[in-house]
Amino acid sequence: MRLQCSEPCGVDPSLLREDRVCVACGAPVELEAERPAASAEDLRELWRRRRASLAPADCSGVWRFRELLPPITPALDEVVTLGEGNTPVLRGGATARYAGLADLRIKHLGWNPTGSFKDTGMTVAVTRAAVRGASIVACASTGNTAASMAAYAARAGLTARVYLPRSVAAAKVAQAEAYGAELVRVGGSFDDALVGMLGKADPSTYVLNSLNPFRVAGQKTFLVELMEQLGWQVPDVIVLPGGNLGNLSACGAALDDLMALGLIDRLPRMAVVQAEGANPFVRMWRSGAERLSPLADPRTIASAIRIGAPVSWRRAARTLRATAGTALDVGDGAIAEARRVIGHDGIGCELGSAAALAGARALRQAGWIDEHERVVCLLTGHLLKEPGTGDSDAAESAVDARVGVETGC
Ligand code: F0G
Repeated sequence: MRLQCSEPCGVDPSLLREDRVCVACGAPVELEAERPAASAEDLRELWRRRRASLAPADCSGVWRFRELLPPITPALDEVVTLGEGNTPVLRGGATARYAGLADLRIKHLGWNPTGSFKDTGMTVAVTRAAVRGASIVACASTGNTAASMAAYAARAGLTARVYLPRSVAAAKVAQAEAYGAELVRVGGSFDDALVGMLGKADPSTYVLNSLNPFRVAGQKTFLVELMEQLGWQVPDVIVLPGGNLGNLSACGAALDDLMALGLIDRLPRMAVVQAEGANPFVRMWRSGAERLSPLADPRTIASAIRIGAPVSWRRAARTLRATAGTALDVGDGAIAEARRVIGHDGIGCELGSAAALAGARALRQAGWIDEHERVVCLLTGHLLKEPGTGDSDAAESAVDARVGVETGC
C-alpha cells in the first residue's frame, strides 16, 4: 500500500500522511491502485456467493467487495461494520415523470446505517484508524460525516471529535451526540471548520474527512454494488450532488477499477449538481478555468452541500473529463420542489440529495440527456436528516448550548 499525491506535484512520497492533504500542493493524497488478478467472472461469482454468507464482513455491502479495498487488515473480525451498503435501487413514477425520463432509477445511499452514503467510506477508514492504533479521530462536517464518524468510532472505542460550521441540521448534530462524539463549534462555513480542524489537529489525531483515501476507497463500493444490481449493464448517466467532491472522486476511482478489471465495458456520463449559491466547481467547469476559485460565503437551503472550497475539485474535474460528464447548478426552489416529488414516490431524501433529481430534470430539459437514456440518481441522505425546509432544521443555537470543547484536537 503506497501513498502518492493525487496531483503530479513531485512531492517526496515519504513526506505524505494518509490523513492529511499533500504538504507540497494541498491536494488529497491517494493510494496507488492495487487490483486483484482474478477475472471479472470470478469476482462476480465470489461476490454473489458472499451474499449467502452470515459472516459480518460478508453481510456488509462494502466489505463484500473487499478485493477492491486496500489491504488494511487480514483479520476480518477486526472490521468495524454496521452492515453498511446493501442499499436499494428503486423506481418512482412521480420522480421519472418529473425528470421527463422513461428509465430513471434511484440508488438510495441515505438508507445506510446512519442515514447517509458516508457510512460506506467510514467503515473502511475507521477500521484503518483502529488498526493503526489511533485513539482520537476528527472531522469537519456539514453533519453527515460527523454522524457517521461518531457511530463507527463508538464501535471501535475511539474518541470522535467533530468540528461544525455555524449552521448544521439539528438531527445530524443530535445523532453525532447520541453516538458520544465531542462537538467543537468552529463557526463560519464548512470550509472554515475544515481549515480550523486541520490547523488544530495534533499529529496523533487521525483525520477522517474525504481527503482520507480510505474513505474514498470504501465509497467506491456503492458504484460496484449499483452495477451488480443493474446486471452489469452500465447506465448512460449517473447524477449526484456535489459538495466537497469526495464522492464524485470516489465514483471516478470506482469506474477506473471496474473498467480495468473488465467488470464493465463502457463508462456512464457522470453529472454533478451543486446548489446555485454554493457552486464554485460549476463556475470553474463552465468558464473552463484551470483552477477553482473558492466562494467565501456559500449559501443554500441544502446545508449538506453548503461548501465553497471543495478539496477534491481536481479529481472531480478529471472524472468529468474522463466520462464526458458535466457539472451544473440548480436553485434552492428547484431543490425543494424535487424533494417534494421524491416524497410523493414514498422514498424521500434530505435536501442536498434532491439536487440530483433537480439536476437530472434540468439536464433533460437542456437536451443533455435524451428521454430514453438510462439514468440513475444517487440520493445521498435520508429524509429524517432534514425533514423540514432547511432553515427550520438548522441547529445554530442548539449546538452552541451543547458544545463542550472549544479548542484543541
Ligand atoms: N449529499 C449529502 C447528503 C452530503 O452530506 C454531502 C456531503 C454531499 C452530498 C456531498 O458529497 O462532499 O463528497 O461532494 N457532506 C459532507 C459532510 C461535506 O460533512 O457530511 P461530497
